[in-house]
Amino acid sequence: MSSKINLEFNGKEVELPIVEGSEGELAVDVKSLRQQLGLITLDPGYKNTGSCESGITFLDGEKGTLRYRGYEIDELAEKANFLEVAYLLIFGELPTQEQHDAFLIEIKEESYVDEDLKKILESFPKSAHPMGVLSSLTSGLTAFNPSSVDVNADDQIYNAIVRLMGKLPILVSWVYRKRMGLPLKYGDYALGYVENIARMMFRKPNKEYVANPIVDNALTKLLILHADHEQNCSTSTVRIVGSSHAGLFASVAAGISALWGPLHGGANQAVVEMLEDIKNDDGDVQKYIEKAKDKSDPFRLMGFGHRVYKNFDPRARIIKKTAHDVLNDLGVVDPVLDIAKKLEQTALEDEYFVKRKLYPNVDFYSGIIYRAMGIPVEMYTVMFALGRLPGWIAQWREMRKRKEPIGRPRQIYTGEQKRSFVSIDKR
Ligand code: SDX
Repeated sequence: MSSKINLEFNGKEVELPIVEGSEGELAVDVKSLRQQLGLITLDPGYKNTGSCESGITFLDGEKGTLRYRGYEIDELAEKANFLEVAYLLIFGELPTQEQHDAFLIEIKEESYVDEDLKKILESFPKSAHPMGVLSSLTSGLTAFNPSSVDVNADDQIYNAIVRLMGKLPILVSWVYRKRMGLPLKYGDYALGYVENIARMMFRKPNKEYVANPIVDNALTKLLILHADHEQNCSTSTVRIVGSSHAGLFASVAAGISALWGPLHGGANQAVVEMLEDIKNDDGDVQKYIEKAKDKSDPFRLMGFGHRVYKNFDPRARIIKKTAHDVLNDLGVVDPVLDIAKKLEQTALEDEYFVKRKLYPNVDFYSGIIYRAMGIPVEMYTVMFALGRLPGWIAQWREMRKRKEPIGRPRQIYTGEQKRSFVSIDKR
């Protein structure tokens, strides 16, 4: 295979190197294109543009493959705990028992936040969307923690990582509990990472909290499945904000805002709202399929389609089975699950979806599990953010340690050409 391509333009020919990844992906390195040919590339939404080389997550959209640091997502979801996966994503290897235990203890040591953060939380109306509150609180963490980190100092980066891994779950539980009108509490040092999240969120003020293994297991699986997904919208946001040498907390706060959008992480909330609408519309699934196909209608089938997957999202398969198991185990009968299955089956048999390779994505079934846990629909994307945290951290750390340049795309200007100012009395 050739290691370069030749490009000819206006009588000038240049050679551009081909970059090949460890899984055989190929890219044209266009770093010298403008200097050699006076051309830039133009690719709105970056559908055909790689922003970086990365060794963290590999996905093959055609095959429906997803691996974290080389491990298949199915295997990790089945056999690993969330902190093992977080450690793997961030540091590149599955931890030994000793490394895992030390990581957990250092995170627990950081599992508190300055009480003044409650003032930011209290300043929001109860109706405020939890993602906006979480992004503000995460940015607020910077005020109470050293904002700049010397990326050449591994201990400083490690410390920022364990601080964020310890503090974000508290902020998530506080956002949830404020919405539910419950007192704001801290975790239990004796518990594991995910068990502690469940306890912080679900404990009631009037009785002892009894852990529910079904909930803990389902939460573990959901967090693992959401942990990273290479250069998606919110991760690209974390990387570009971090590329200005903004701190880790500020970069993740920006990623939370990007994830909020209904085309991205906000889709898990939009899916359940859509399924509720269908349920309240006599379960008329076909009507919504037709709406999604109607170009004059802005409605899209939420939880369907993906920028990269042109096959089943491997996470959707696992979550679909988990949804079925969790509802069974919890004894929850939710008509919305049946509607989801009927909608999926109808769409997958419809030419419009088949031709465009639109399959259920990670967001299609996840909300049904959160709903069975009693989590309010506005909190679903916050749970996505909790899962995606180690991925954002891993990508930020990789970008900073590789000393990547500040992200600053170019553009093609299509506005007015030079013209002279006209005073207001002459306009
Ligand atoms: C996540 O990138 C990631 O990795 C994201 C994520 C992660 O883990 O970080 O996987 C998480 O964000 C999953 C996606 C959640 N979003 C949704 O479920 C929202 C509904 N889906 C879409 O809006 C859409 O599919 C996107 C945004 C996910 C992808 O959009 P693209 O890649 O820009 O594709 P497109 O809009 O160019 O669509 C191609 C065609 C178009 O039709 P034509 O112009 O060819 O006629 O497919 C159509 C689109 O209209 N289409 C849909 C559709 N998704 C695409 N039509 C109806 N319903 C849909 N859901």
